[in-house]
Amino acid sequence: MRKILLGALGMLSLGIVAAAALTQMGFPDFAADSPHGPVLHRLIEWARERSVARRTADIAVPTDLADAGRIRRGAGNYDAMCAGCHLVPGVENSEIRKGLYPTPPNLAQPVADSNATDARHFWIIKHGLKASGMAAWSKAGMADESIWDLTAFIKTLPSLSPEEYRRQVEASDGHSHAGMDGHGAGQETAPAGEHEPHHEAKPHAHDHGGDGH
Ligand code: HEC
Repeated sequence: MRKILLGALGMLSLGIVAAAALTQMGFPDFAADSPHGPVLHRLIEWARERSVARRTADIAVPTDLADAGRIRRGAGNYDAMCAGCHLVPGVENSEIRKGLYPTPPNLAQPVADSNATDARHFWIIKHGLKASGMAAWSKAGMADESIWDLTAFIKTLPSLSPEEYRRQVEASDGHSHAGMDGHGAGQETAPAGEHEPHHEAKPHAHDHGGDGH
């Protein structure tokens, strides 16, 4: 028994030394245009989902996520802050999304993912995900209620046509959420439509030599 334990400890130490040596030599590749191998990729996804599941178990999901007011408020904030990375109905990709790794999920498409619960979405929007492009929006001052509004809107997003999406955004208060600059909702509220969407629904003025246009 002792021998087995010592052997296991020896293997573990060897593994740690090998991992340290590989890291010292410059592995893995941190370039966003060089995807992880399948094993490392699965390992990271597994660790991320375990970590999020542990932290969402006690979150009480509001019962009024289908409320039209929530969805309407969420629409304007989604268009102002999220659309560039997570897309909108009728838009296939965006410049920033093409370059990000991990690729931001297309939230305008139905998900077949059993992990996609409301509590998980709320938690990810609030806390962000390390070493991805996903920000902790609470650090920007976004209050929980506004995060639930976004969670409510995301639920309906895959069922919207491009026209319905536009209508929801236009009916919303634009980029306005509780917690903006530490003030309450409604302060510094931009009129609907003032914020241009940050996605490629319309041609835009900037020009560069890529073949994406
Ligand atoms: C700069 C790009 C970027 C922006 C802007 C952004 N996100 Fe993300 N988001 C990501 C990335 C990348 C991931 C995936 C991270 C990962 O897989 O580890 C992600 C993941 C998510 C997820 C988890 C989706 C799932 O089911 O796995 C949700 C929900 C989400 N973001 C919502 C939002 C909302 C709401 C906003 C706006 C307030 C937003 N994001 C803004 C990049 C972005």
